Amino acid sequence: MSEQFDAVDVIVAKRDGRRLADEQIDWVVDAYTRGVVADEQMSALAMAILLNGMDRAEIARWTAAMIASGERLDFSGLSRPTADKHSTGGVGDKITLPLAPLVAVFGVAVPQLSGRGLGHTGGTLDKLESIPGWRAALSNDEMMRQLEDVGAVICAAGSGLAPADRKLYALRDVTGTVEAIPLIASSIMSKKIAEGTGSLVLDVKVGSGAFMKDAERAGELARTMVELGTDAGVRTVALLTDMSTPLGLTAGNALEVRESVEVLAGGGPQDVVELTVALAREMLDAAGRPDADPAAALADGRAMDVWRRMIAAQGGDVDAPLPVAREQEQVLAEADGVLTTLDAYAVGVAAWRLGAGRARKEDPVQAGAGVEIHARPGDTVRAGQPVLTLHTDTPERFGRAREALAGGVVVDPQGTPGRRAPLVLDRVAAG
Ligand code: URA
Repeated sequence: MSEQFDAVDVIVAKRDGRRLADEQIDWVVDAYTRGVVADEQMSALAMAILLNGMDRAEIARWTAAMIASGERLDFSGLSRPTADKHSTGGVGDKITLPLAPLVAVFGVAVPQLSGRGLGHTGGTLDKLESIPGWRAALSNDEMMRQLEDVGAVICAAGSGLAPADRKLYALRDVTGTVEAIPLIASSIMSKKIAEGTGSLVLDVKVGSGAFMKDAERAGELARTMVELGTDAGVRTVALLTDMSTPLGLTAGNALEVRESVEVLAGGGPQDVVELTVALAREMLDAAGRPDADPAAALADGRAMDVWRRMIAAQGGDVDAPLPVAREQEQVLAEADGVLTTLDAYAVGVAAWRLGAGRARKEDPVQAGAGVEIHARPGDTVRAGQPVLTLHTDTPERFGRAREALAGGVVVDPQGTPGRRAPLVLDRVAAG
């Protein structure tokens, strides 16, 4: 079969800063999925997009082409409205775990199709897989049934959704082209639109532990995704939230599940509770439940009831003890003073090196590995006091984890106690 375009012409057009025609975009995404456009050609195009950008219409068309590469789910048969949340990824970001059951308390179905972690940010499925018996893979029918019966499901995205993105994301990961805003926005939104949710709340992370290190670029990513969602008929809102320091007091799979259960039991760290409630309010508002009171449902155990049913429905034993790493070591404060920096990226890399994350996507993760945090930025500490506990099954990893933390834990003898950056930095809605 003769092809409609030549890949080199498409690459050259974007290399020279021209906009791509709709037909070129449709063709190149489809031909790449079919294997006609080679990896090296798509790499060159991805780099040209990273350097020269795309306008709003090009990004919308690219997203539509990625959606068209696979199946679309349809939740219109459910008796409840649907709402989903997506985080661009951070350290200690376990919010999906308490959030999905919390929103379901109010009769809104939450289809949370999640991924595994790669690099220094953890994956929701890796966290839940530390619960004995819990199963990530569900058929579409099982997912629908659970959404109708329990109201919340967190499971692996099937391979049928946006296969073009799956292939392109793996390529970007090894060609230095992850950070392009048009490519990130279309990657995330193609999966969310294909998933068929009625409303979507985006948690766009800003800071050292996030893809976007500064608020300006994070704001541009948020606006691009909100426009894409809105144009596709999905009620979409984004919150920009701080990721300069880890969220909560744990980073690592079973450690984060334990903390999420504390939040569902009405306790847990204040920042995790604050962000869970803020995102729940946005999801409930977008799904037509503006009067719901998520803070009350978290405090009085209603969200915990849904959590227990959600985990049990996927084979998880909610009462089984969570795995604990075989070895622990503490990181101590070096002086009296105020902890002024606890860097999210440093903690994320340390948790990853301890075994909580993977270097290649086929690597196993250690359920018990990670970092436990005893002091937060703004806290006063004394020399010799534990700031972190490192957990791993393989103690030879402690050295590399400590190297990752060098410069990331700063105690200033002259620091001002109690100063914490706000967690929610901005909100972006359709204009
Ligand atoms: N998450 C995605 O799904 N895609 C990206 O490009 C970045 C984060």
